[in-house]
Amino acid sequence: MFDFTGSHVLVTGAAVGIGFGIAACFHKAGANVSLCDFRPDALDEARARLGNARTFAGTADVRREDQVERVFRDAEEAFGPVHVVVANAGIIPSVPVVEMTVDQWDQVMETNARGCFLACRTAARSMIGSEKQGKIITVSSIAADAARVDAAHYCASKAAIVQFSKSLALELAKHRITVNIIKPGYVEVESVVSPLSEEYKNVLRSSIPLGRPGQPEDIGNMALFLASPYAEYITGESFVVSGGSSAGRANLPPANP
Ligand SMILES: NC(=O)c1ccc[n+]([C@@H]2O[C@H](COP(=O)([O-])OP(=O)(O)OC[C@H]3O[C@@H](n4cnc5c(N)ncnc54)[C@H](O)[C@@H]3O)[C@@H](O)[C@H]2O)c1
Repeated sequence: MFDFTGSHVLVTGAAVGIGFGIAACFHKAGANVSLCDFRPDALDEARARLGNARTFAGTADVRREDQVERVFRDAEEAFGPVHVVVANAGIIPSVPVVEMTVDQWDQVMETNARGCFLACRTAARSMIGSEKQGKIITVSSIAADAARVDAAHYCASKAAIVQFSKSLALELAKHRITVNIIKPGYVEVESVVSPLSEEYKNVLRSSIPLGRPGQPEDIGNMALFLASPYAEYITGESFVVSGGSSAGRANLPPANP
């Protein structure tokens, strides 16, 4: 449906999970795809899964300015200027606020919020002045709006991504660069970095009106749309992809006795 032949798409946190799913969607649509992650072995596996043609893999910790800038340089050496950047890397730890250490708080904010800032800033610097319309997509969460227990740092970081992205959209509009936000609901991934308990996953699964958990491709499909010419006039907006979860409560018993 979408043709990204000749486009260069860079995705952070792309070794597995949602990031890999997004990268795979663009690859299938013909793009040259640069995968960025801080786990080199997982990155190699991801690249092998996509096939080496039209793929580049670069190791970088999104918290580190020098590493993010280096991976963009290397990717652009491989495929030329980036046209689409998806700032996806994130961690999802769980701890109540009263037990949370400063290090735990910082790790989440640095990965999710600072990492998004660094990827977007590097993308914007590269895209300004480019002939092709630049597209930046950030990955927040429905947790930006609907708070949850034991994840105050995560929810705060995801809300920060939303306001950061909207501000950036205003700043970059004059350069015809769009910045949009995807807010996934529960997406089924086998995360090594942020594993979830079976009990937690079961509760999330039971609350999805469309009756199945999201898959990485569901988020990839939204990214394809936002990066496509069909979304040329859309910027600074958030798009929920949650199978209806954010619409309300679907898993209640009958209200009347
Ligand atoms: N899975 C869900 O249900 C869900 C829901 C809403 C939002 N999200 C968001 O989607 C994004 C991807 O999550 P996922 O579920 O695919 O997680 P995941 O753990 O499966 O994948 C995340 C990837 O990011 C990489 N990563 C983590 N920290 C990094 C860093 N500092 N530098 C570079 N790479 C790093 C990991 O190595 C991993 O490959 C995150 O931003 C997450 O908050 C996920």
